[in-house]
Amino acid sequence: MIRRSLAALAAAALAATGLAVLVPTSAEAATTLGASAAQTGRYFGTAISAGKLNDATYTTIANREFDMVTAENEMKLDATEPNQNQFNYTAGDRVANWATSNGKRLRGHTLAWHSQQPGWMQNLSGTALRNAMLNHVTQVATHYRGKIYAWDVVNEAFADGSSGARRDSNLQRTGNDWIEVSFRAARAADPGAKLCYNDYNIDNVDHAKTKAVVAMVRDFKSRGVPIDCVGLQAHFNSGNPLPSNFQTTLSTFAGLGVDVQITELDIQGSGTDQANKYRQVTNACLAISRCNGITVWGVRDTDSWRPGDTPLLFDGNGNKKAAYTATLDALNGGSTPPSDCRNGYVALTYDDGPNPGTTPALLNALRAAGVRATMFNTGQNAAANAALIAAQASAGMWIANHSYTHPHMLTLSTAAMSSELSRTQTAIQNAGGGTPKLFRPPYGETNATLESVASGLGLKTITWDVDSQDWNGATTAQIVQAAGRLTNGQSILMHDQYAATVAAIPQIVSDLRSRGLCAGMISPATGRAVAPDATNPPPGGCTATYSDGQSWPDRFNGQVAVTGASNWTVTVTVRAPQRIIATWNAAVSWDTTGNVMTARPNGSGNTFGFTVLHGGNQTRPTVTCTAT
Ligand code: XIL
Repeated sequence: MIRRSLAALAAAALAATGLAVLVPTSAEAATTLGASAAQTGRYFGTAISAGKLNDATYTTIANREFDMVTAENEMKLDATEPNQNQFNYTAGDRVANWATSNGKRLRGHTLAWHSQQPGWMQNLSGTALRNAMLNHVTQVATHYRGKIYAWDVVNEAFADGSSGARRDSNLQRTGNDWIEVSFRAARAADPGAKLCYNDYNIDNVDHAKTKAVVAMVRDFKSRGVPIDCVGLQAHFNSGNPLPSNFQTTLSTFAGLGVDVQITELDIQGSGTDQANKYRQVTNACLAISRCNGITVWGVRDTDSWRPGDTPLLFDGNGNKKAAYTATLDALNGGSTPPSDCRNGYVALTYDDGPNPGTTPALLNALRAAGVRATMFNTGQNAAANAALIAAQASAGMWIANHSYTHPHMLTLSTAAMSSELSRTQTAIQNAGGGTPKLFRPPYGETNATLESVASGLGLKTITWDVDSQDWNGATTAQIVQAAGRLTNGQSILMHDQYAATVAAIPQIVSDLRSRGLCAGMISPATGRAVAPDATNPPPGGCTATYSDGQSWPDRFNGQVAVTGASNWTVTVTVRAPQRIIATWNAAVSWDTTGNVMTARPNGSGNTFGFTVLHGGNQTRPTVTCTAT
């Protein structure tokens, strides 16, 4: 029996404000960077620029996707102390207030740095500078005390290149201990904040700069200097590429007894290559338990400090890029939960199977991506590979007719047309594939005569809306791009026998998901893609998907949608002190702890709901589904 479970989401940070606010809708909560990162106790943040807080596209994306905020410039030295001992928190507070009023945490950036110093500080040296620096650290950390999750206490204190030395700067020239005294001052001012050392080009553990920071952290830990974390800025581009040993670098820092955070991530590039790099960085963080979270250095490419590199997760129009989907999938443990299908269904179709050399890989890829497709098999291949028809059926594919020998059907007599179709029906039935209800004519060549022959055999004739061109040598990227044109109700033509087609599946599925589309079946009534019905569900399998409903200060509603079976048993597990106080559209029973509710159909369909009194615990329930 196949059981699939979907851990539902962690707390909606909004509720932490204690305000009666509307929680984001289910789709957002289940499929955003912040919510997905929260499932493993991590955060996903962005740099925010105060000057953009009245750009609605910007704030909409930032609010929806991120649960940690860093002020891009507003808490730096020149911004917060423009004149010596005259502190100005106007812009910093705008960012901080936006973060807290939207339920987000704050990283503080940065208290001591050679760059973006106010003019007066640039002109100081010696004891006067040391004292001014310590006063700055103390004042700013005190102003934000209690509001900051982690401070970048010291930024960029090491030199690039092979020396492993400190960077020469006015601060460094006040004495080598300037870093540790800054950390001690920050701890005294805000004991609740994690204190980080933050730098760039410390991503490759074999580089001298990285080794020098490792040595400093080791020394600080051994001498009790209060350091809690290392921030890796992670600005990657052709001059500073993402190293293959990035995860080892994270684990090396973590092994010193500090947390690690990816603090300013951006990666030059576009498309699949950029997406894969974001995936690598995300997976590296997920692999290290002391990696607390990831912050990207801006929302859209056009918000980036390096816009020409298009290094972020959203394009200039605010659309999700491939890099976004890759990051989200990685945060979700390799794949994103089934989407809410808010924009409808499309049909993935594969012609000309089954083939011993290719069908197993195709089915594996579809299964791994959690989707079902329609297989237009030829009768001759079905007869020769009966076991593969059975494999298609048990993977939950819809099995359809593509003629027996793949001829140009319109050149045939009516009797020969009929023979092509009926022999295929028989071959598929004999192989355990059920009775097909759909027919796709080879080459898409059809006319009224052929369609009436088909309908006489109980077959609806369909062609396609989008041609992937895989038969014509299209690359994986081109196939993915073609699928990107699918809209609700449409189907795409692909084939069983091409490696490029199989390789396209994960990206096609991510793209559909990001567009609120689901892979569905082709309706034998209309020939259009629709939601799967109970036709040929994968045996024993069902999927239960949790989503948030309305919420109030003391309770929230949840909803579970079941797909893949109509006879199901779903367990819903809540965490103490939560209690389910009402249910609808299911028959329910409870275990002895009262934390595990078992729900079965009560004649109201495949979606049911309940109300959780949360008692302060905002964790969302876990749901599992078993088909019975
Ligand atoms: C950058 C900002 O993004 C720009 O707007 C500003 O002009 C310069 O600083 N390392 C850091 C960040 O720690 O503070 C820098 O931010 C990028 C490099």
